[in-house]
Amino acid sequence: TTPARLAVRGDLLDFTADPGWASPAELAGRGAAAGIRWRPDHWLMIEQGRIVGAEPAATSTPGADWQRIDHRGRLILPGFIDTHVHSPQLDVIASHGTELLDWLETYTFPAEQRYADEALAVERSALFLDALLGHGTTSAVVFPTVHRVSAEALLGAAHARGMRLVAGKVLMDRHAPPALCDDVIGAEADSRALIERWHGRGRLAYALTVRFAPTSTPAQLAMAGRLLAEVPGLYMQTHVAENRDEVRWVAELFPEARSYLDVYHRAGLLNGRSVLAHGIWLDDTDRRLLADTGAQIAFCPSSNLFLGSGLLDWPALEAAGARVSVASDVGGGTSLSMQRTLADGYKVLALQGHKLSAWKALYGATAGAALALGLEGEIGSFAEGCCADLVVWDWARGPVGEHRDRLATGLHERLFAWLTLSDERHLVQVLVAGRDLTPTRTA
Ligand code: GUN
Ligand code: ZN
Repeated sequence: TTPARLAVRGDLLDFTADPGWASPAELAGRGAAAGIRWRPDHWLMIEQGRIVGAEPAATSTPGADWQRIDHRGRLILPGFIDTHVHSPQLDVIASHGTELLDWLETYTFPAEQRYADEALAVERSALFLDALLGHGTTSAVVFPTVHRVSAEALLGAAHARGMRLVAGKVLMDRHAPPALCDDVIGAEADSRALIERWHGRGRLAYALTVRFAPTSTPAQLAMAGRLLAEVPGLYMQTHVAENRDEVRWVAELFPEARSYLDVYHRAGLLNGRSVLAHGIWLDDTDRRLLADTGAQIAFCPSSNLFLGSGLLDWPALEAAGARVSVASDVGGGTSLSMQRTLADGYKVLALQGHKLSAWKALYGATAGAALALGLEGEIGSFAEGCCADLVVWDWARGPVGEHRDRLATGLHERLFAWLTLSDERHLVQVLVAGRDLTPTRTA
């Protein structure tokens, strides 16, 4: 149940704007003007599941009509937003030895076939969403499988938890095992039925979910484009330019397109609610097309390293005006933890001579993702009126983390060490719209 009035005490950090690529030292001089809102030892005030303000604990104590949770000395962040993750792929996370196209055939396609079974889809959807929450992720843009029951199970489980989720049945009508292929007519009927039932219900939105260009016929891509234009507020999610063999294959399959991204553009699939995972092998024209259409790239560093896909140049995308969010891409990625994902992101950028600050990293997994999804009024920050989706974290766990935390001098140093060294074991409590959804830990 959601308490009517709830106050949570701790060190509040959220973002009011993009801190950008400035160094921590430069940003330290700009403080709040850089979009960083740091409110140590404050009470975050929540009414009916929405944030109504914050008060310094030193000078104010919520009255007796507020339920109080005292987490003093702990870090409180908006719940993370994972803009690209596959719910059925917890079944294949950490599978050895392949790159993308092989990995799909060897591990992923066989595993996804099991989600035609409704009972299994229901059980695994609950496992997946509780795992997300247990890693501090309160919102996500999710691929289930091609089966209508798998989308039904996932959306139903998110609705039961009151989570802001964007998802939809996967569209794929070729180049996959027959048990994973739909057809244009059936896919449209299933998508329309799911949209009717779930789009705009509670905190859910439907996403037309084109797996990737190779597994959809041009007719299916065109169908998805028509639906996207027809139904207001729909999202579109897919993969683009992840792996070099994949890019070559798309060029063969769609010789009329200027590029991989252009395949989606020609089908009318790019708009401000389009989320495209990876985007490693794009050119300048593609980057401008992303900027012109408002479509975003979901940066998946853990997956890109694990599958040997390549290194995304995040600053180049933003320099061209494109939006970028951060995503685990489990099971290509090897952890649902956004801290681990961002720590991998730091290393991917370091290999290209860029330095990702803890500010920019955390912004990208919270307010930046919310803005890219058009959901900044609801999630990603502690702005008044936003849903109280938040996570309470320990600053440090274990001898190494505690030692490093004690030696940190400035706030950025402390946060960067936290981001680099922490994971789901640091999670203390998760609230979704003010409701306690902390999964019980089985030690
Ligand atoms: N491209 C098409 N399908 C997939 C998938 O399931 N994972 C990743 N990482 N890339 C894909
Ligand atoms: Zn993916």
